Amino acid sequence: MASLFEPVDEPNRLYYGDNLDVLRRDVDDGSIDVVYLDPPFNSNRAYNVIFAQHDTYDESAQIEAFDDTWHWTPETDATFTRLLSGGIPAKAADALAAMRTLLGENDAMAYLVNMTPRLVDLHRVLKPTGCLYLHCDPTMSHYLKVLLDSIFDPRNMRNEIVWKRTTAHSDTRQGLVQYGRIHDVLLFYSKSTKWTWNPIYTEYDDAYVASKYRYEEAETERRYRKDNMTAAKPGGDTSFEWRVKRRAGVREWVADLDDEWQTPQPGTEYRGVAPYKNRFWAYSRDNMREMAEAGRLIHTRTGMPEYKRYLDEMEGVSLQDLWTDIDPINSQAQERLGYPTQKPEALLDRVVRTSSNEGDVVLDPFCGCGTTVAVAQRLNRRWVGIDITYIAVDLIEKRLQHTFGETIKDTYEVHGMPRDVAGAQALFRQDELDFERWAVSLVNGTPNEKHVGDRGADGVIRFVTDASGGTGRAIVSVKGGKQIGPHFVRDLLGTVETQKAEMGVLVTLTKPTRGMIDAADHAGTYLWPVNSQRFPKIQLVTISELLAGKRLQSPPTLTPYIKARRMHVPAEQLPFDLLQEAKAKPSKRKPGAVRR
Ligand SMILES: C[S@@+](CC[C@H](N)C(=O)[O-])C[C@H]1O[C@@H](n2cnc3c(N)ncnc32)[C@H](O)[C@@H]1O
Repeated sequence: MASLFEPVDEPNRLYYGDNLDVLRRDVDDGSIDVVYLDPPFNSNRAYNVIFAQHDTYDESAQIEAFDDTWHWTPETDATFTRLLSGGIPAKAADALAAMRTLLGENDAMAYLVNMTPRLVDLHRVLKPTGCLYLHCDPTMSHYLKVLLDSIFDPRNMRNEIVWKRTTAHSDTRQGLVQYGRIHDVLLFYSKSTKWTWNPIYTEYDDAYVASKYRYEEAETERRYRKDNMTAAKPGGDTSFEWRVKRRAGVREWVADLDDEWQTPQPGTEYRGVAPYKNRFWAYSRDNMREMAEAGRLIHTRTGMPEYKRYLDEMEGVSLQDLWTDIDPINSQAQERLGYPTQKPEALLDRVVRTSSNEGDVVLDPFCGCGTTVAVAQRLNRRWVGIDITYIAVDLIEKRLQHTFGETIKDTYEVHGMPRDVAGAQALFRQDELDFERWAVSLVNGTPNEKHVGDRGADGVIRFVTDASGGTGRAIVSVKGGKQIGPHFVRDLLGTVETQKAEMGVLVTLTKPTRGMIDAADHAGTYLWPVNSQRFPKIQLVTISELLAGKRLQSPPTLTPYIKARRMHVPAEQLPFDLLQEAKAKPSKRKPGAVRR
């Protein structure tokens, strides 16, 4: 089993790319123990990432991370035809065809066409004992369940878990004429009839405790219940008389453990107690004697023994399919990273613990800001994470390093990120916006919300300017094309001045020309008030230099993402304890509604 920071034989893997390509190319058949997927739900929204504004959250600091909008296009039609011509198993093809008849050609159907081949591949990569959790909401859960039935077999449908993801809204007063929608759904399937299962127990609710554990031991204040010791069926030594005694003037019966009744003591009453009519003792005489010696038996007025069951010795109630005890990531959540649709670690903790063991492999093919990955790492599972958005992958790396320390870098591989100039050129050709975001992140900057014109900035680096928390800005401009010249430097200088920023950084794929270097040299310097150090007002740096480890000449920069606090849940702690801990520190704030 791999320990947290040891490099493992097979490193954990983080992929930047489309999960269908990655699954088909890089994930072996039967290699995964548990899959958790939280795909976009067809909610018709573009999700924004909130970048750290250093103490304030500013709407303008949001950038679009991924788009949850699906449309039926000629390409969708072609994919549908391909899937139905042998691209997926026959039952899945039948289910998909039936849905097209039902739904027609619309956004919902486009979403299902997109999801089907991914679900087929996720089934393929699961081990025979593996499980899958598909996180969705009631918009699409009924269609996805039919698809999963067709791929996994309805007999392998284990649960439909309902997670209460937000508190009740009072939207009725604002005119809502239906019930509030406050839950998500997790569809839980096993690949076969044997699967990994580590049950989780939660606290009994207060009403149950009040009605069942009604007694309290005066000396210890321990709560207990009295359990009947008879059973309907006989088995072994279960039809004996239980001997009890009591001294004159004492009300309570006690077990006659030394068989005094055979030579009765004066002033002592003896009695043999039989099980109730048509019933038998549930335990052998020896077992009952052991319980009595341990002080675990009490007797009724008739001398009938009852077992003293302490509340604090109970594991709790095994977890059911209604989860109302996990708060969403609201704006005050400790673990909030600002990634849209970020899920709480406690939710993933439950999934990962229940359906895998240490050393097992957890896969999240839509891993977002890496909640599953971080939880798997903490619980000593191996993991594979995939996301198609550059920001997500970048954020996961920062989350892992911030949470587990720098050395974690040696335990996982990142695939799909440019490692050299050729890779950067390929990314530029494939997606200019992602290229710009990647280049901005190389200089520890925050990417801009949208593509802007040539004179504009692609990102901003923030740094401290004084001890009271003041910050300065360096505008980052990225140029991926081959056509570059001094006018880019002059444009950047103009932008720095109009935006009243302190500095500018021009990142290029191509080597800067002599004219560019001269223009930058003549742009002047910035005086950092902290120690009167001077930095070039405009700096030029190439992707190749950055990949080789070159650092900018600048004051220490601030992290671009909202920082994840270190995980506060120790690995060995059970969720039961986690809940108790959470209850011990009730939040003063009302958890806010989370938008999906
Ligand atoms: C709902 S979010 C997941 C949030 C995640 N559970 C978390 O806690 O951060 C869905 C993610 O799927 C990613 N995504 C969408 N389509 C994808 C694809 N084809 N391949 C890989 N990732 C994809 C999006 O970039 C987004 O980060």
